[in-house]
Amino acid sequence: RFWIFGVLVMLVLLTIGTMFYVVHDYGLVTGTQSYATDPQAPAREAAFQDGKVVRTGPNSYAVYMVGRAWHWAPDVIHVPEGAEITFYVTSADVLHGFEIQGTPVNLTAMPGVVGTVKYTFRHAGLFRIICNEYCGMFHHAMVARIIVD
Ligand code: CUA
Repeated sequence: RFWIFGVLVMLVLLTIGTMFYVVHDYGLVTGTQSYATDPQAPAREAAFQDGKVVRTGPNSYAVYMVGRAWHWAPDVIHVPEGAEITFYVTSADVLHGFEIQGTPVNLTAMPGVVGTVKYTFRHAGLFRIICNEYCGMFHHAMVARIIVD
């Protein structure tokens, strides 16, 4: 009985410890990651045209990202540390992967579909958006930058 109890306690501690470590280092995606089929909405259509960062509140921003073979628009984004960022992600052609390195943010950019994820950067610095879905010859060059200041 002692050992069964001991093992359970260790499992719980390891689980909590691992969760704490991951959240501390990578941050937490707040809200749900979701996909919606409404890219025809005129307001969004315009925002997606070239990619855009829009201030939506005192400490919140919306980022409209569009992936095309083989670049992201916008390709450089400035956002403040600690602000809640909602990313709206779509593709103008084929499937692309939208991954922000060093964070849990990972969406698939799909034509005709808008993926949504909320994230707050807790540390200033440079973050790279990489395409993690093979999309052709210059897949590896499909990198954008987020500068958190
Ligand atoms: Cu875009 Cu790989």
